[in-house]
Amino acid sequence: MAAGTTLQKAIDLVTKATEEDRNKNYAEALRLYEHGVEYFLHTIKYEAQGEKAKDSIRAKCLQYLDRAEKLKEYLKKGKKKPIKEGGESSAKDDKDKKSDSDDEDGDDPEKKKLQSKLEDAIVIEKPKVQWSDVAGLDAAKEALKEAVILPIKFPQLFTGKRIPWKGILLFGPPGTGKSYLAKAVATEANRSTFFSVSSSDLMSKWLGESEKLVKNLFELARQHKPSIIFIDEIDSMCSARSDNENDSVRRIKTEFLVQMQGVGNDTDGILVLGATNIPWVLDSAIRRRFEKRIYIPLPEAHARLVMFKIHLGNTTHVLTEQDLKELAGKTEGYSGADISIVVRDALMEPVRKVQTATHFKRVSGPSPTNHEEIVNDLLVPCSPGDQGAVEMNWMDVPSDKLFEPPVTMRDMLKSLSRTKPTVNEDDLKKLRKFTEDFGQEG
Ligand SMILES: Nc1ncnc2c1ncn2[C@@H]1O[C@H](COP(=O)(O)OP(=O)(O)O)[C@@H](O)[C@H]1O
Ligand SMILES: [Mg+2]
Repeated sequence: MAAGTTLQKAIDLVTKATEEDRNKNYAEALRLYEHGVEYFLHTIKYEAQGEKAKDSIRAKCLQYLDRAEKLKEYLKKGKKKPIKEGGESSAKDDKDKKSDSDDEDGDDPEKKKLQSKLEDAIVIEKPKVQWSDVAGLDAAKEALKEAVILPIKFPQLFTGKRIPWKGILLFGPPGTGKSYLAKAVATEANRSTFFSVSSSDLMSKWLGESEKLVKNLFELARQHKPSIIFIDEIDSMCSARSDNENDSVRRIKTEFLVQMQGVGNDTDGILVLGATNIPWVLDSAIRRRFEKRIYIPLPEAHARLVMFKIHLGNTTHVLTEQDLKELAGKTEGYSGADISIVVRDALMEPVRKVQTATHFKRVSGPSPTNHEEIVNDLLVPCSPGDQGAVEMNWMDVPSDKLFEPPVTMRDMLKSLSRTKPTVNEDDLKKLRKFTEDFGQEG
């Protein structure tokens, strides 16, 4: 309902904008475009349901922003050359059009435009995830180091017949750390450029020429090599058969194959890293391009123990090593993401205790404002029967006098009983089968 009205408002605004645009009232058009886009963004942020809907709205936004940008430029220059949108176009636009349909895009503005769009779609990111933040997955880490770090550090080792891996596919159940591991690669391989692309960006309709985008992506990677191209959820781009397989999907796949193959293209110094939860839908030709396919399984007990520790971080808690082992034992079948949710929920328990407490008592401990200093007038939630319990609620507690209640084993168990594992046996079976057929344990 609400989504309908905001979205409708956005559509009304841009419709008016287009009208004004056509009537050459550029200033008014610009204002309306910008206003409309704001409404679109609001819809994306708070109301639109589902990635598909969001993507198509995003697509529209970019289109209108593009136009708004042009109008702005035009208005700023107060220039003589009329700018037209589609339809009857000036000489310059005609030229743009031609190169549009031209596959041999040389150094034309069209290509520049694509590349700048590409720069928006891809993230050349520097996340802060270290190898040590990723629990378990030792084989996968080793393989990635071999593919990414060593060839750059010791190029002399990788000459002649010994060539580094060009394609690595990470596959496994959702929430096991595939995307997370890729972030660690980006952080640790700090001498290469890391391009992170989500397939939905590449597939999005607004460009309508995703295969050119793929081509440009690889070109950009070549310019910045050594590079790593990370394509998350690659299944949405390269599935063997999809219901709406149309020309453009096929063209993207072909372009992708050509680029990875490196026929007439230099693929030296470029590693394509893919991730998927459903590897069996991948087109077999694409699958072959990923020379190394690494299974990222659900975490083992030890990895789960480490995850509990990682996710607890430096929060105050009273869990013993034994408690943590017990938790690891109880979470067979939980993915890393599941465990992070269990812990996050447990970490909220002390907050809930503070919020719902009817009684507090005085204790001594490090001052919240200065951890070096030990003070003895802190207040901690307690039960009414406790010695020294005073009836009060959190509003009566001065902010610098609260003693942070530690996370307890009970909090963890409570949260655990509420959170069920998300990965099901069916998917696991399919993944195991795929690993037997095509994969390698990570
Ligand atoms: N091996 C792991 N070590 C530490 N945290 C993990 C691990 N696997 C998953 N997580 C947690 O789960 C979250 C989701 O993982 P993600 O990499 O997005 O899963 P996916 O395999 O579906 O891409 C991560 O942000 C991280 O907090
Ligand atoms: Mg992921």
